[in-house]
Amino acid sequence: MIAAVINMFSIQEINKYLNNKNLFSLEILDTVDSTNIYLKKIADNENIPEGKVVISKSQTAGKGRLGRKFYSPSGTGIYMSILLRPDLNASDALFITTAAAVSVAEAVKSVTNVETSIKWVNDIYCYGKKICGILTEASFNNQSNKINYAILGIGINLTNPDNDFPDDIRNIAASIYGTKPCPFDIYNKLIAEILNNFMNYYYNLKEKTFMSEYRKKSMVIGKNVDVILPNGTSKKAKVLDIDDDAHLLVQYEDKSFDTLSSGEISIIPNGEI
Ligand code: BTN
Repeated sequence: MIAAVINMFSIQEINKYLNNKNLFSLEILDTVDSTNIYLKKIADNENIPEGKVVISKSQTAGKGRLGRKFYSPSGTGIYMSILLRPDLNASDALFITTAAAVSVAEAVKSVTNVETSIKWVNDIYCYGKKICGILTEASFNNQSNKINYAILGIGINLTNPDNDFPDDIRNIAASIYGTKPCPFDIYNKLIAEILNNFMNYYYNLKEKTFMSEYRKKSMVIGKNVDVILPNGTSKKAKVLDIDDDAHLLVQYEDKSFDTLSSGEISIIPNGEI
């Protein structure tokens, strides 16, 4: 018997799992510098509609937040970006990322049955390490203070690279399946399910229906953390909650309170403050 060969990435297969394939125009690349950069180059052309999705099998210069790189080797992960043209104020851009984080966590659970948690703002963790990063880059209209377009980039590690992750990220990066092989057709199903989930939230983004799930899946509420300040120094704090604006409510060691709208925290293992 000849087994059916399903491509790891296939537009036909992804379309099969999409709730509404008319919302998207999918493109699959063998390699690219960064799927975010690729879309940014064409996003100013307003003839390219919302819903253009580019997926690459690898990236040579995958971008992370805060100028970091996102390790993107071939055959072990999903690297994809979605072009969005929302009618939103600049201040709402953060919700694209938070809705995406919930969409990924829910899709990973329903497609792979693996439970993940969200590390504020937008990292997805599993087995105590990061398995997914999300980078939203937006262009704003200075006069109207509205978003011209946003590019939502999602990188997910499905399996460990052949020679494991590079030394500099080995202690912080993981993949959903680790050293086990990725089961049949997971790549295409996961891509489709993330897009399905995200679009549900995106069309009512201002209602923030994803925030209760974001809080439930948060791995930082109640934890002691180091808050990395813009000047690079850090301050110990306890995370009290995440509000409906996705702001982090913290209390510092000196008992003062703060509301953080962006930034970086690291969890102190068994930390006391
Ligand atoms: C982070 O961890 O700081 C964010 C990582 C985002 C990585 C994805 S992979 C697809 C898209 N293209 C990029 O260059 N970056 C995002």
